[in-house]
Amino acid sequence: MSAKREHWGSRLGFIMATAGSAVGLGNIWKFPYMAGDNGGAAFIIIYLALVFTIGLSVLLAEIMIGRASQSDAVNAFKKLGPGFFSIVGYMGIAAAFMILSFYCVVAGWTIDYVIKFASGAFSGMDADALGQAFGGFISDPVQPIIYQAIFVALTVMVVLGGVANGIERAGKILMPILFLILIALVIRSVTLPGAGKGLAFFLAPDFSKITGETIMAALGQAFFSLSLGMGAILTYGSYLDREANLGKSAWQVTFLDTSVAILAGLAILPAVFAFGMDPGAGPGLTFVTLPAVFMSMPGGIFFGTLFFLLLTIAALTSSISLLEPLVAFFSSKGYTRKQITVTSGFLSFLLGIPCSLAMGIWGDFTIFGKNFFDLMDFLTSNLILPIGGFLIAIFVGWVVTPRALKEVCGDDAPGLLAKTWIFILRFIAPVAILLILLSGLGLLDDLQAALGL
Ligand code: PFF
Repeated sequence: MSAKREHWGSRLGFIMATAGSAVGLGNIWKFPYMAGDNGGAAFIIIYLALVFTIGLSVLLAEIMIGRASQSDAVNAFKKLGPGFFSIVGYMGIAAAFMILSFYCVVAGWTIDYVIKFASGAFSGMDADALGQAFGGFISDPVQPIIYQAIFVALTVMVVLGGVANGIERAGKILMPILFLILIALVIRSVTLPGAGKGLAFFLAPDFSKITGETIMAALGQAFFSLSLGMGAILTYGSYLDREANLGKSAWQVTFLDTSVAILAGLAILPAVFAFGMDPGAGPGLTFVTLPAVFMSMPGGIFFGTLFFLLLTIAALTSSISLLEPLVAFFSSKGYTRKQITVTSGFLSFLLGIPCSLAMGIWGDFTIFGKNFFDLMDFLTSNLILPIGGFLIAIFVGWVVTPRALKEVCGDDAPGLLAKTWIFILRFIAPVAILLILLSGLGLLDDLQAALGL
Protein backbone atom coordinates (compact mmCIF):
# COMPACT_ATOMS: atom_id res chain seq x y z
CA MET A 1 0.00 0.00 0.00
CA SER A 2 2.87 2.39 0.72
CA ALA A 3 3.79 2.26 -2.95
CA LYS A 4 0.51 3.93 -3.83
CA ARG A 5 0.41 6.24 -0.82
CA GLU A 6 -1.50 9.41 -1.66
CA HIS A 7 0.14 12.78 -1.13
CA TRP A 8 -1.12 16.33 -0.73
CA GLY A 9 -1.00 18.51 -3.83
CA SER A 10 0.79 21.34 -2.02
CA ARG A 11 1.92 22.44 1.44
CA LEU A 12 -0.96 24.92 1.52
CA GLY A 13 -3.29 22.01 0.85
CA PHE A 14 -1.85 20.15 3.83
CA ILE A 15 -2.21 23.23 6.07
CA MET A 16 -5.80 23.77 5.06
CA ALA A 17 -6.73 20.10 5.44
CA THR A 18 -5.02 19.87 8.82
CA ALA A 19 -6.54 23.15 9.93
CA GLY A 20 -9.82 21.70 8.63
CA SER A 21 -9.34 18.76 10.99
CA ALA A 22 -8.47 21.01 13.89
CA VAL A 23 -11.13 23.67 13.33
CA GLY A 24 -14.52 22.20 14.04
CA LEU A 25 -17.21 21.90 16.65
CA GLY A 26 -14.45 21.95 19.25
CA ASN A 27 -13.62 25.56 18.46
CA ILE A 28 -16.99 27.05 17.64
CA TRP A 29 -19.34 25.05 19.83
CA LYS A 30 -17.29 23.63 22.69
CA PHE A 31 -14.67 26.30 23.40
CA PRO A 32 -17.04 29.23 24.05
CA TYR A 33 -19.25 27.26 26.43
CA MET A 34 -16.28 25.75 28.24
CA ALA A 35 -14.82 29.21 28.71
CA GLY A 36 -18.26 30.33 29.92
CA ASP A 37 -18.52 27.42 32.37
CA ASN A 38 -14.98 27.72 33.71
CA GLY A 39 -14.46 31.36 34.56
CA GLY A 40 -13.89 33.05 31.19
CA ALA A 41 -10.52 34.74 30.80
CA ALA A 42 -8.75 32.65 33.45
CA PHE A 43 -9.66 29.48 31.55
CA ILE A 44 -8.60 31.06 28.26
CA ILE A 45 -5.15 32.01 29.59
CA ILE A 46 -4.55 28.47 30.84
CA TYR A 47 -5.83 27.10 27.55
CA LEU A 48 -3.50 29.33 25.50
CA ALA A 49 -0.50 28.44 27.65
CA LEU A 50 -1.20 24.73 27.17
CA VAL A 51 -1.85 25.06 23.42
CA PHE A 52 1.37 26.93 22.62
CA THR A 53 3.62 24.70 24.71
CA ILE A 54 2.32 21.16 24.94
CA GLY A 55 -0.24 21.34 22.10
CA LEU A 56 2.09 22.80 19.48
CA SER A 57 4.91 20.43 20.45
CA VAL A 58 2.76 17.31 20.30
CA LEU A 59 1.27 18.50 16.99
CA LEU A 60 4.72 18.81 15.47
CA ALA A 61 5.66 15.43 16.96
CA GLU A 62 2.66 13.79 15.30
CA ILE A 63 3.32 15.37 11.91
CA MET A 64 6.95 14.31 12.17
CA ILE A 65 6.09 10.68 13.04
CA GLY A 66 3.63 10.56 10.14
CA ARG A 67 5.99 11.94 7.55
CA ALA A 68 9.02 9.98 8.69
CA SER A 69 7.16 6.67 8.68
CA GLN A 70 4.77 7.21 5.74
CA SER A 71 2.51 4.84 7.69
CA ASP A 72 -0.75 4.64 9.61
CA ALA A 73 -0.88 5.38 13.34
CA VAL A 74 -0.25 1.81 14.48
CA ASN A 75 2.53 0.86 12.06
CA ALA A 76 4.26 4.25 12.25
CA PHE A 77 5.45 3.54 15.79
CA LYS A 78 6.52 -0.01 14.90
CA LYS A 79 8.53 1.33 11.98
CA LEU A 80 10.36 4.05 13.87
CA GLY A 81 10.82 2.53 17.33
CA PRO A 82 9.78 -0.14 19.84
CA GLY A 83 6.43 -1.73 19.03
CA PHE A 84 5.05 -0.93 22.47
CA PHE A 85 4.27 2.61 21.33
CA SER A 86 1.84 1.36 18.72
CA ILE A 87 -0.59 1.27 21.66
CA VAL A 88 -1.09 4.97 20.81
CA GLY A 89 -2.48 3.88 17.44
CA TYR A 90 -4.79 1.28 18.99
CA MET A 91 -6.08 3.73 21.59
CA GLY A 92 -6.54 6.20 18.77
CA ILE A 93 -8.76 3.78 16.91
CA ALA A 94 -10.97 3.39 19.97
CA ALA A 95 -10.99 7.17 20.43
CA ALA A 96 -11.90 7.76 16.78
CA PHE A 97 -15.04 5.62 17.15
CA MET A 98 -15.99 7.26 20.40
CA ILE A 99 -15.45 10.84 19.21
CA LEU A 100 -17.22 10.17 15.92
CA SER A 101 -20.22 8.88 17.86
CA PHE A 102 -20.97 12.07 19.78
CA TYR A 103 -19.42 14.42 17.21
CA CYS A 104 -21.86 13.35 14.51
CA VAL A 105 -24.79 13.90 16.88
CA VAL A 106 -23.92 17.58 17.34
CA ALA A 107 -22.99 17.93 13.67
CA GLY A 108 -26.48 16.59 12.92
CA TRP A 109 -27.96 19.44 14.96
CA THR A 110 -26.08 21.91 12.73
CA ILE A 111 -27.77 20.44 9.63
CA ASP A 112 -31.16 20.84 11.28
CA TYR A 113 -30.29 24.47 12.05
CA VAL A 114 -29.33 25.18 8.44
CA ILE A 115 -32.76 23.95 7.38
CA LYS A 116 -34.62 25.79 10.14
CA PHE A 117 -32.85 29.08 9.44
CA ALA A 118 -33.25 28.84 5.69
CA SER A 119 -36.95 28.02 5.95
CA GLY A 120 -37.59 30.94 8.30
CA ALA A 121 -38.71 28.66 11.15
CA PHE A 122 -36.98 30.92 13.67
CA SER A 123 -38.61 34.14 12.47
CA GLY A 124 -39.89 36.28 15.29
CA MET A 125 -38.47 34.03 18.03
CA ASP A 126 -36.70 35.58 20.99
CA ALA A 127 -33.95 33.99 23.07
CA ASP A 128 -36.43 32.21 25.37
CA ALA A 129 -38.38 30.73 22.51
CA LEU A 130 -35.17 29.69 20.79
CA GLY A 131 -34.00 28.03 24.00
CA GLN A 132 -37.19 26.04 24.22
CA ALA A 133 -37.03 25.07 20.57
CA PHE A 134 -33.46 23.81 21.02
CA GLY A 135 -34.29 21.83 24.15
CA GLY A 136 -37.30 20.29 22.45
CA PHE A 137 -35.31 19.31 19.39
CA ILE A 138 -32.29 17.67 21.02
CA SER A 139 -34.40 15.72 23.51
CA ASP A 140 -36.59 14.27 20.75
CA PRO A 141 -35.87 10.52 20.45
CA VAL A 142 -36.09 10.38 16.65
CA GLN A 143 -35.32 13.59 14.75
CA PRO A 144 -31.74 14.26 15.90
CA ILE A 145 -30.85 10.65 15.12
CA ILE A 146 -32.04 11.10 11.54
CA TYR A 147 -29.78 14.15 11.15
CA GLN A 148 -26.95 12.26 12.81
CA ALA A 149 -27.39 9.50 10.21
CA ILE A 150 -27.31 12.07 7.40
CA PHE A 151 -24.09 13.54 8.74
CA VAL A 152 -22.43 10.13 9.13
CA ALA A 153 -23.44 9.37 5.54
CA LEU A 154 -21.85 12.64 4.34
CA THR A 155 -18.64 11.80 6.18
CA VAL A 156 -18.57 8.31 4.69
CA MET A 157 -19.21 9.70 1.19
CA VAL A 158 -16.28 12.11 1.33
CA VAL A 159 -13.87 9.56 2.77
CA LEU A 160 -15.03 7.01 0.17
CA GLY A 161 -13.92 9.36 -2.58
CA GLY A 162 -10.34 9.44 -1.26
CA VAL A 163 -8.84 12.25 0.74
CA ALA A 164 -6.23 14.25 -1.07
CA ASN A 165 -8.42 15.92 -3.67
CA GLY A 166 -11.72 16.28 -1.86
CA ILE A 167 -10.53 17.46 1.54
CA GLU A 168 -7.72 19.55 0.22
CA ARG A 169 -9.92 21.50 -2.16
CA ALA A 170 -12.74 21.88 0.37
CA GLY A 171 -10.30 23.18 2.97
CA LYS A 172 -8.76 25.76 0.67
CA ILE A 173 -12.11 27.25 -0.29
CA LEU A 174 -14.07 26.91 2.91
CA MET A 175 -11.63 27.84 5.64
CA PRO A 176 -11.18 31.47 4.47
CA ILE A 177 -14.95 31.91 4.18
CA LEU A 178 -15.43 30.59 7.69
CA PHE A 179 -12.90 33.10 8.93
CA LEU A 180 -14.64 36.04 7.26
CA ILE A 181 -18.08 35.10 8.55
CA LEU A 182 -16.73 34.75 12.06
CA ILE A 183 -15.16 38.18 11.93
CA ALA A 184 -18.46 39.69 10.76
CA LEU A 185 -20.20 38.01 13.69
CA VAL A 186 -17.63 39.22 16.20
CA ILE A 187 -18.17 42.79 15.02
CA ARG A 188 -21.93 42.42 15.38
CA SER A 189 -21.65 40.80 18.79
CA VAL A 190 -19.24 43.23 20.44
CA THR A 191 -21.24 46.23 19.22
CA LEU A 192 -24.51 45.03 20.77
CA PRO A 193 -25.69 47.23 23.64
CA GLY A 194 -24.54 45.62 26.89
CA ALA A 195 -21.78 43.59 25.27
CA GLY A 196 -19.13 45.23 27.45
CA LYS A 197 -19.78 42.92 30.41
CA GLY A 198 -19.22 39.95 28.16
CA LEU A 199 -15.97 41.39 26.91
CA ALA A 200 -14.83 41.92 30.49
CA PHE A 201 -15.74 38.33 31.29
CA PHE A 202 -13.68 37.26 28.30
CA LEU A 203 -10.71 39.51 28.98
CA ALA A 204 -10.49 39.96 32.77
CA PRO A 205 -9.27 36.78 34.47
CA ASP A 206 -10.73 35.53 37.74
CA PHE A 207 -8.31 32.86 38.89
CA SER A 208 -10.43 31.87 41.88
CA LYS A 209 -12.50 29.79 39.45
CA ILE A 210 -9.54 27.60 38.53
CA THR A 211 -9.36 24.10 39.99
CA GLY A 212 -7.59 20.87 39.03
CA GLU A 213 -10.68 19.93 37.10
CA THR A 214 -10.63 23.21 35.17
CA ILE A 215 -7.03 22.70 34.14
CA MET A 216 -7.82 19.15 33.10
CA ALA A 217 -10.71 20.45 31.02
CA ALA A 218 -8.41 23.02 29.39
CA LEU A 219 -5.83 20.36 28.55
CA GLY A 220 -8.51 18.02 27.20
CA GLN A 221 -9.88 20.86 25.11
CA ALA A 222 -6.40 21.70 23.78
CA PHE A 223 -5.93 18.11 22.61
CA PHE A 224 -9.46 17.82 21.24
CA SER A 225 -9.28 21.13 19.41
CA LEU A 226 -5.92 20.39 17.78
CA SER A 227 -7.07 16.81 16.95
CA LEU A 228 -4.12 15.45 18.93
CA GLY A 229 -3.26 12.25 20.74
CA MET A 230 -5.05 9.76 18.53
CA GLY A 231 -3.19 9.62 15.24
CA ALA A 232 -5.40 11.84 13.07
CA ILE A 233 -2.68 14.43 12.53
CA LEU A 234 -0.10 11.66 12.28
CA THR A 235 -2.11 10.12 9.43
CA TYR A 236 -2.37 13.49 7.65
CA GLY A 237 1.38 13.97 8.17
CA SER A 238 1.98 10.63 6.49
CA TYR A 239 0.59 12.08 3.25
CA LEU A 240 3.30 14.79 3.26
CA ASP A 241 6.31 14.65 1.01
CA ARG A 242 9.91 15.44 1.85
CA GLU A 243 9.92 19.14 1.04
CA ALA A 244 7.39 20.55 3.50
CA ASN A 245 8.71 22.61 6.42
CA LEU A 246 7.17 20.83 9.39
CA GLY A 247 7.83 23.39 12.11
CA LYS A 248 6.23 26.19 10.15
CA SER A 249 3.25 24.01 9.28
CA ALA A 250 2.66 23.05 12.91
CA TRP A 251 2.83 26.67 13.99
CA GLN A 252 0.39 27.81 11.27
CA VAL A 253 -2.18 25.12 12.08
CA THR A 254 -2.01 25.93 15.79
CA PHE A 255 -2.38 29.63 15.09
CA LEU A 256 -5.40 29.15 12.81
CA ASP A 257 -7.11 26.76 15.21
CA THR A 258 -6.62 29.03 18.20
CA SER A 259 -7.72 32.15 16.34
CA VAL A 260 -10.98 30.51 15.35
CA ALA A 261 -11.64 29.44 18.95
CA ILE A 262 -10.99 32.95 20.28
CA LEU A 263 -13.09 34.55 17.54
CA ALA A 264 -15.94 32.13 18.28
CA GLY A 265 -15.74 33.08 21.95
CA LEU A 266 -15.80 36.76 21.02
CA ALA A 267 -18.80 36.19 18.76
CA ILE A 268 -20.79 34.36 21.39
CA LEU A 269 -19.94 35.49 24.95
CA PRO A 270 -20.52 39.26 24.54
CA ALA A 271 -23.87 38.43 22.98
CA VAL A 272 -24.74 36.19 25.93
CA PHE A 273 -24.34 39.14 28.27
CA ALA A 274 -26.10 41.53 25.92
CA PHE A 275 -29.15 39.27 26.03
CA GLY A 276 -28.91 38.77 29.78
CA MET A 277 -28.34 35.04 29.38
CA ASP A 278 -26.23 32.66 31.44
CA PRO A 279 -22.63 32.22 30.16
CA GLY A 280 -22.56 28.88 31.99
CA ALA A 281 -25.55 27.63 29.99
CA GLY A 282 -23.37 24.90 28.49
CA PRO A 283 -23.82 23.23 25.12
CA GLY A 284 -26.82 25.41 24.22
CA LEU A 285 -24.77 28.60 23.81
CA THR A 286 -24.10 28.23 20.09
CA PHE A 287 -27.54 26.89 19.35
CA VAL A 288 -29.55 29.39 21.37
CA THR A 289 -27.59 32.58 21.92
CA LEU A 290 -26.11 32.91 18.50
CA PRO A 291 -29.46 32.40 16.73
CA ALA A 292 -30.85 35.11 19.04
CA VAL A 293 -28.09 37.44 17.79
CA PHE A 294 -28.90 36.58 14.18
CA MET A 295 -32.60 37.19 14.66
CA SER A 296 -31.81 40.63 16.03
CA MET A 297 -29.79 41.76 13.04
CA PRO A 298 -30.65 42.76 9.48
CA GLY A 299 -30.18 39.86 7.10
CA GLY A 300 -30.16 37.54 10.12
CA ILE A 301 -31.83 34.67 8.29
CA PHE A 302 -29.17 34.81 5.59
CA PHE A 303 -26.25 35.04 8.03
CA GLY A 304 -27.74 32.40 10.30
CA THR A 305 -28.14 29.96 7.44
CA LEU A 306 -24.62 30.66 6.26
CA PHE A 307 -23.14 30.31 9.72
CA PHE A 308 -24.70 26.92 10.42
CA LEU A 309 -23.81 25.75 6.93
CA LEU A 310 -20.20 26.64 7.60
CA LEU A 311 -20.39 24.97 10.99
CA THR A 312 -21.62 21.81 9.27
CA ILE A 313 -18.74 22.01 6.84
CA ALA A 314 -16.19 22.71 9.59
CA ALA A 315 -17.54 19.64 11.38
CA LEU A 316 -17.29 17.61 8.18
CA THR A 317 -13.63 18.45 7.56
CA SER A 318 -13.02 17.26 11.15
CA SER A 319 -15.13 14.11 11.05
CA ILE A 320 -13.36 13.05 7.86
CA SER A 321 -10.07 13.24 9.74
CA LEU A 322 -11.54 10.96 12.42
CA LEU A 323 -12.45 8.33 9.84
CA GLU A 324 -9.28 8.54 7.76
CA PRO A 325 -6.94 7.04 10.44
CA LEU A 326 -9.22 4.00 10.50
CA VAL A 327 -8.96 3.72 6.72
CA ALA A 328 -5.17 4.05 6.85
CA PHE A 329 -4.86 1.37 9.55
CA PHE A 330 -7.33 -1.22 8.29
CA SER A 331 -6.16 -0.94 4.71
CA SER A 332 -2.77 -2.13 5.97
CA LYS A 333 -4.71 -5.26 7.00
CA GLY A 334 -5.98 -5.74 3.48
CA TYR A 335 -9.49 -4.30 3.69
CA THR A 336 -10.67 -1.91 1.00
CA ARG A 337 -11.41 1.77 1.62
CA LYS A 338 -15.07 1.05 0.90
CA GLN A 339 -15.34 -1.81 3.40
CA ILE A 340 -13.66 0.21 6.11
CA THR A 341 -15.54 3.48 5.69
CA VAL A 342 -18.97 1.91 5.45
CA THR A 343 -18.45 -0.46 8.40
CA SER A 344 -16.78 2.14 10.63
CA GLY A 345 -19.38 4.75 9.76
CA PHE A 346 -22.17 2.36 10.64
CA LEU A 347 -20.61 1.26 13.94
CA SER A 348 -19.96 4.82 15.04
CA PHE A 349 -23.54 5.70 14.11
CA LEU A 350 -24.79 2.93 16.42
CA LEU A 351 -22.59 4.16 19.25
CA GLY A 352 -23.93 7.66 18.63
CA ILE A 353 -27.56 6.69 19.21
CA PRO A 354 -27.22 6.46 23.02
CA CYS A 355 -25.27 9.75 22.89
CA SER A 356 -28.22 11.41 21.21
CA LEU A 357 -30.76 9.80 23.55
CA ALA A 358 -28.74 11.07 26.53
CA MET A 359 -30.08 14.53 25.64
CA GLY A 360 -33.62 13.33 26.34
CA ILE A 361 -35.15 10.04 27.40
CA TRP A 362 -31.87 8.48 28.54
CA GLY A 363 -30.67 11.62 30.31
CA ASP A 364 -31.07 10.05 33.75
CA PHE A 365 -28.97 7.04 32.89
CA THR A 366 -25.52 7.87 34.18
CA ILE A 367 -22.17 6.11 34.56
CA PHE A 368 -19.67 7.73 36.97
CA GLY A 369 -22.21 10.55 37.30
CA LYS A 370 -22.11 11.33 33.57
CA ASN A 371 -24.69 10.67 30.90
CA PHE A 372 -23.57 8.64 27.91
CA PHE A 373 -22.76 11.66 25.76
CA ASP A 374 -20.65 13.33 28.44
CA LEU A 375 -19.00 10.02 29.25
CA MET A 376 -17.79 9.54 25.65
CA ASP A 377 -16.54 13.12 25.61
CA PHE A 378 -14.79 12.78 28.99
CA LEU A 379 -13.15 9.43 28.25
CA THR A 380 -11.71 10.66 24.96
CA SER A 381 -10.91 14.35 25.51
CA ASN A 382 -9.81 14.12 29.12
CA LEU A 383 -8.23 10.65 29.22
CA ILE A 384 -7.36 8.91 25.95
CA LEU A 385 -6.11 11.98 24.05
CA PRO A 386 -3.86 13.29 26.87
CA ILE A 387 -2.50 9.77 27.51
CA GLY A 388 -1.83 9.43 23.77
CA GLY A 389 -0.12 12.83 23.83
CA PHE A 390 1.96 11.75 26.83
CA LEU A 391 3.23 8.67 25.00
CA ILE A 392 3.90 10.61 21.80
CA ALA A 393 5.94 13.16 23.79
CA ILE A 394 7.99 10.37 25.40
CA PHE A 395 8.46 8.64 22.05
CA VAL A 396 9.80 11.70 20.25
CA GLY A 397 11.50 13.31 23.26
CA TRP A 398 13.37 10.21 24.45
CA VAL A 399 13.19 7.34 21.97
CA VAL A 400 13.64 8.67 18.43
CA THR A 401 15.09 12.12 19.11
CA PRO A 402 17.94 12.20 16.54
CA ARG A 403 15.61 10.99 13.79
CA ALA A 404 12.98 13.55 14.84
CA LEU A 405 15.47 16.42 14.75
CA LYS A 406 16.70 15.35 11.34
CA GLU A 407 13.14 15.18 10.04
CA VAL A 408 12.31 18.67 11.32
CA CYS A 409 15.64 20.47 10.77
CA GLY A 410 16.92 18.66 7.68
CA ASP A 411 20.70 19.00 7.39
CA ASP A 412 20.84 22.16 9.51
CA ALA A 413 22.05 21.90 13.08
CA PRO A 414 19.09 22.11 15.50
CA GLY A 415 18.47 25.72 16.52
CA LEU A 416 16.95 27.12 19.68
CA LEU A 417 13.39 26.43 18.61
CA ALA A 418 14.11 22.79 17.81
CA LYS A 419 15.91 22.37 21.14
CA THR A 420 13.00 23.96 22.98
CA TRP A 421 10.65 21.59 21.19
CA ILE A 422 12.58 18.55 22.38
CA PHE A 423 12.89 20.00 25.89
CA ILE A 424 9.11 20.43 26.09
CA LEU A 425 8.54 16.89 24.81
CA ARG A 426 11.11 15.45 27.21
CA PHE A 427 10.20 17.16 30.44
CA ILE A 428 7.36 19.65 30.37
CA ALA A 429 4.71 17.76 28.42
CA PRO A 430 5.00 14.39 30.22
CA VAL A 431 5.18 15.90 33.69
CA ALA A 432 2.43 18.43 33.09
CA ILE A 433 0.10 15.90 31.47
CA LEU A 434 0.62 13.44 34.30
CA LEU A 435 0.04 16.03 37.02
CA ILE A 436 -3.01 17.41 35.27
CA LEU A 437 -4.48 13.94 34.81
CA LEU A 438 -3.90 13.03 38.45
CA SER A 439 -5.26 16.27 39.83
CA GLY A 440 -8.22 16.28 37.44
CA LEU A 441 -9.12 12.80 38.60
CA GLY A 442 -8.76 13.94 42.20
CA LEU A 443 -5.83 11.58 42.77
CA LEU A 444 -3.13 14.13 43.51
CA ASP A 445 -4.00 14.33 47.21
CA ASP A 446 -3.88 10.54 47.48
CA LEU A 447 -0.49 10.53 45.80
CA GLN A 448 0.88 13.20 48.11
CA ALA A 449 -0.37 11.25 51.12
CA ALA A 450 1.15 8.03 49.81
CA LEU A 451 4.50 9.76 49.33
CA GLY A 452 4.23 11.27 52.78
CA LEU A 453 4.45 14.85 51.41
N1 PFF B 1 -10.43 19.06 16.31
C1 PFF B 1 -11.81 18.82 16.08
C2 PFF B 1 -12.62 19.97 16.64
O1 PFF B 1 -12.06 20.83 17.34
O2 PFF B 1 -13.82 20.02 16.40
C3 PFF B 1 -12.28 17.49 16.67
C4 PFF B 1 -11.37 16.34 16.39
C5 PFF B 1 -11.11 15.96 15.07
C6 PFF B 1 -10.75 15.69 17.42
C7 PFF B 1 -10.23 14.94 14.81
C8 PFF B 1 -9.88 14.65 17.18
C9 PFF B 1 -9.63 14.28 15.87
F1 PFF B 1 -8.81 13.32 15.64
